[in-house]
Amino acid sequence: MAMTKPATRPANPRFSSGPCAKIPTFDLTKLSDAALGRSHRAAVGKAKLKDAIEGTRELLGIPADYRIGIVPASDTGAVEMAMWSLLGARKATMLAWESFGAGWVTDVVKQLKIDAEVKTADYGDIVDLSTVDWNTDVVFTWNGTTSGVRVPNGDAIPADRDGLTICDATSAAFAQDLPWDKLDVTTFSWQKVLGGEAAHGMLILSPRAVERLESYTPAWPLPKIFRMTKGGKLIEGIFVGETINTPSMLAVEDYLVALDWARSVGGFKGLMARADANAKAIWDFCEARDWIDNLANDPATRSNTSVCLKFTDDRIKDGAAFAKAVAKRLETEGVALDVGAYRDAPAGLRIWCGGTVETSDVEAMLPWLDWAFHEEIAAQ
Ligand SMILES: Cc1ncc(COP(=O)(O)O)c(C=O)c1O
Repeated sequence: MAMTKPATRPANPRFSSGPCAKIPTFDLTKLSDAALGRSHRAAVGKAKLKDAIEGTRELLGIPADYRIGIVPASDTGAVEMAMWSLLGARKATMLAWESFGAGWVTDVVKQLKIDAEVKTADYGDIVDLSTVDWNTDVVFTWNGTTSGVRVPNGDAIPADRDGLTICDATSAAFAQDLPWDKLDVTTFSWQKVLGGEAAHGMLILSPRAVERLESYTPAWPLPKIFRMTKGGKLIEGIFVGETINTPSMLAVEDYLVALDWARSVGGFKGLMARADANAKAIWDFCEARDWIDNLANDPATRSNTSVCLKFTDDRIKDGAAFAKAVAKRLETEGVALDVGAYRDAPAGLRIWCGGTVETSDVEAMLPWLDWAFHEEIAAQ
């Protein structure tokens, strides 16, 4: 039976999983202090880049002896730079439970042609981390953005591993606890949990990763934008804000503004609590209904950022068409934008719950999901 439309709408209907909603206080005038038209190598530019690095360290609690660099090409650039620079010294293990992890597998197996064991799980599940040989170099995604499945904690990763762990944490950083002592390379993009702009990636290296960079030279050529060493020594400048090539100072300013906002909501803990509250509102909604469920099978692996949902009602005739139609109704009503499942993922919805999203907006959107579902069932 069709339902009447809910009376209220979310103040902000932006639930995209990237670029994600900007900080709630965002306004273009907040970027007026950007060092525009100035050299990024001038004192003002360098100071802002260094602030971005040190603000990241402070908010994420990254150890003082870890290097943090701003690199080209968003998260993808940071992951590629790490894989092309570090892999090949020993066997690799590639873990994937959704599309982005699968992309890294392709790169390592088909492009770099490295001796690698590939372990995959279907959408909704995660690889059994206790079966991984951590004496190999292990590449994995902390939070699978397209399946809503995350690594629950770092317990499976041994402290005394011989291999490096290379972790794509782009939809986890600033929302999920990352165990820095278990991660040798961590990457993310500003466009995700902090609602920043894409373009630049963050590359975080443990001392063991630096040791590998300084003791190993890959057999393949490395383009300039991937090179982190010169004459066998780390180019330290990259990790204090002397970027390899020209960054967008507008994007840098936007990130600095987002970091400031993050401090104002209680820093990392505050951000995580906001994501948790958003995700819980959706989990509770699903719990109370028998036609929708979390795509993540094990509750311990449920993402608090990219919450992926599947429709489970027997009356649905064509799952993919149905999910698309629900997402379309939500978009047409202007109550939830960009919530269709990722193109390679199972049919369903994906609702971003990172800290820049207000819980009141999630709560105002959910009655519309109820409405859209019943409208679509009636329309079939
Ligand atoms: C897990 C994961 N890895 C990599 C990427 C690619 O990020 P970017 O487009 O910022 O390079 C994304 C983007 O959604 C992602 O979710």
